[in-house]
Amino acid sequence: MINTMENIKILLVEPSESIGEVITKSLQRAFNANVVFHRTALEGVERLKKGEAFSLILVRNQSDEAPNTAIDYIAAQFLNIIYDLSLKTPLIVIGEFEHTLKKYALVSERLRIEEINRLVLKALGLKKEDFEHLKLPEFVAFPVKHFYLMSNSPCDIYIKLVKKTGDDFVKRLNFGENFNKTDLKTYEELGLLDFYILRDEYEDFMNGLFLQTLSNLKKTRNLEENIEVVGDSFVLGTDLMRNLGINANCIAMVDQTIFMMKNQIQKADKLGPLLRKLLDDKMSYSYRHSYLIAALSYTLLPKMEWGSGDQQNILLEKICMVSYFHDIYLEDEKLIKISSSEEMKAAGLNPKDWDLLNHHANRAAVLIQGYPRLPQGLDLIIKQHHGVSNGVGFPVVLTAGISPMAIFFMVVEDFANSILSIAGPPENLANSMKEALKPLKEKYQLPSYRKIVTEIENMINPKK
Ligand SMILES: [Fe+2]
Ligand SMILES: [Fe+2]
Repeated sequence: MINTMENIKILLVEPSESIGEVITKSLQRAFNANVVFHRTALEGVERLKKGEAFSLILVRNQSDEAPNTAIDYIAAQFLNIIYDLSLKTPLIVIGEFEHTLKKYALVSERLRIEEINRLVLKALGLKKEDFEHLKLPEFVAFPVKHFYLMSNSPCDIYIKLVKKTGDDFVKRLNFGENFNKTDLKTYEELGLLDFYILRDEYEDFMNGLFLQTLSNLKKTRNLEENIEVVGDSFVLGTDLMRNLGINANCIAMVDQTIFMMKNQIQKADKLGPLLRKLLDDKMSYSYRHSYLIAALSYTLLPKMEWGSGDQQNILLEKICMVSYFHDIYLEDEKLIKISSSEEMKAAGLNPKDWDLLNHHANRAAVLIQGYPRLPQGLDLIIKQHHGVSNGVGFPVVLTAGISPMAIFFMVVEDFANSILSIAGPPENLANSMKEALKPLKEKYQLPSYRKIVTEIENMINPKK
């Protein structure tokens, strides 16, 4: 039994830098733990051999990617060293793993931070209550842009003044006080990007945030206003899910956002005005590129002979969901724009961004598995949206061996990204589309990809 006043020291071995960081942060936050994080078994095993003591070892069961050595599975190496050194340190393994000799706890491959935290508590013989006080700082930050669709403070709202003597928090909005997006924009123009909520009022705030945003979304507006409002909610929903995972409260809001994207596309008499509005670069790039893919798909999907009538509705809904979630882990516009390994190499990314981009499709697919009432096969389309079957990296050569809807999404996304990069004034949309088509014809020679390029061409130049 460990005294909670003592520091908990955890050895973490996780090949992916970005996943490792997420786990590290969560362990630090939940247990105030001292986390030693390595990407290979070798470094971790060395520490144990040298006699370094840990309260717990947490490893992913995956092969070590060391070039000149035979494949060695990480978890097995730790079981061996624990056995060899007769250590009593508990071991938690993430992923599929079987070993008859030793005891260890297992976390499913569908990585859930909650599950890890629960097992850590169990392995250390501790209770959740011992750590309640560590959960959140006294003041919790929320970006001002997350307040765009609210109009009334669900609790007192603070701003932070940074002083030499320490941070000072000053109340800016009282509980129940009204405000609007113009007020918020003024704050942002003055350089105030974050508001703060008292830890004890976090729940009240989150409830207010979701309720007010949802009811605001449902108000009647014209097309242009609607696209902006849905954009605000898109940013809010994706930010929150990226950082906190999918929680029951946000689902109604996310559902409504996706429903509105789909409805607007279906209801627009002509797509022109909608597409032109999406060229407005005051809205987030991630939203504009996702929406553009969905809007273009509306015209293209019926040509794919995947179904008629009501099935078209289901197909469009799927594409809208894929568009919403596929790049959820990419916050940076620069990363969203990369769609090949050549571009990735040319971008001069730091190791963290490299890892993030490399795994974003796979991670998004894992996240979406926790979403309720998920249309069939949606996680697969997300995983393969860059044309690789396991969702890691970009393809060396294009393959027809992935989901047909992933192929469709990939080509349409490529087209959408090119339109946005050429854009210029909205009146130029028709020309931008023609320009954007050219590289596609070169790039996609395989028949299954080619078919979509041909349909894009027919869409741009309708036969008289
Ligand atoms: Fe994308
Ligand atoms: Fe992507």
